[in-house]
Amino acid sequence: IPISHPSFSRARYFKGKKIHGDIDIKVEQAEFSHLNLVAHANGSFSVDMEVIRNGVKVVRSLKPDFVLIRQHAFSMARNGDYRSLVIGLQYAGIPSVNSLHSVYNFCDKPWVFAQMVRLHKKLGAEEFPLIDQTYYPNHKEMLTTTRYPVVVKMGHAHSGMGKVKVENQYDFQDIASVVALTKTYATAEPFIDAKYDVRVQKIGHSYKAYMRTSVSGNWKTNTGSAMLEQIAMSDRYKLWVDTCSEIFGGLDICAVEALHGKDGRDHIIEVVGSSMPLIGDHQDEDKQLIVELVVNKMGLALPRPREASPGRGSHPQVGPPAQQRPPPQGKQGPPWWLDDFMEGKGF
Ligand SMILES: *[C@@H]1O[C@H](CO)[C@@H](O)[C@H](O)[C@H]1NC(C)=O
Repeated sequence: IPISHPSFSRARYFKGKKIHGDIDIKVEQAEFSHLNLVAHANGSFSVDMEVIRNGVKVVRSLKPDFVLIRQHAFSMARNGDYRSLVIGLQYAGIPSVNSLHSVYNFCDKPWVFAQMVRLHKKLGAEEFPLIDQTYYPNHKEMLTTTRYPVVVKMGHAHSGMGKVKVENQYDFQDIASVVALTKTYATAEPFIDAKYDVRVQKIGHSYKAYMRTSVSGNWKTNTGSAMLEQIAMSDRYKLWVDTCSEIFGGLDICAVEALHGKDGRDHIIEVVGSSMPLIGDHQDEDKQLIVELVVNKMGLALPRPREASPGRGSHPQVGPPAQQRPPPQGKQGPPWWLDDFMEGKGF
């Protein structure tokens, strides 16, 4: 299994960062596929990480104090299901960005969309213009829809996978037969002839909005070539992302995606969590914002060394393995970082 540049890119951003004044942060980075773990009810746990050392695959055992999750925990594509690891990290009580509770809840897109349906009801269609989507638990009720073209999304997938534009009833029924084979749920929403799409992102307390215009003419703007430009954060966009960031007990990192139709209307289509890929010209700044956020959260989640005593703090105190983390007097061992990210983008 090839492992991509372990900890290099991430560790660079954490260089010189400390928590509680003088505790260094030790960063480890891995993909879900290189991880395994054991967690006990008494609070002890161990995470195994596969690394290549001198061309040989070896397994290291670690006890992370904190986790940043930058990879999708679930995709119905092959080998894309890491929910059991998310459960294990939660079982071990490891604090995380985004929260493990929210990461698990993000493993079904219609489950997330259901939250947005609630926001739509609360704020109204003017303030929160959610796209008019229909949910089908399986193919059986997929007989027809009132309007065409529609976009059918099958199962839980990312980057435009499992997404089909359907022009008429005959094609809709063809797609229903594909959904039958996939044995999963599907959604249908009106196809929006979009002038551009919008991404409103929030990292901690920092906001950015981007506009993406398709250049190649592909309706999946994340597929063909597209032009990306940063646009002003309006109160409207801020309201969208602020309300979405409250779901599942709070999202430290999230983005709202919307289509702006040629008819001048907005349609919110999705909210994504901490696994979102960074985009635009300010990715370096975004990475630094993520690091600041994580350092702050770590400071809150991990007890101050002098206060640290058994049974205190929000995170189970686990004895560090002797050779890995020699506990200096009165100090907690260096926190350990786990970072996952997708598509080999380096962060
Ligand atoms: C927790 O339980 C495991 C499994 O029973 C055991 O091996 C370990 O020693 C226990 N750790 C503590 C700190 O009690």
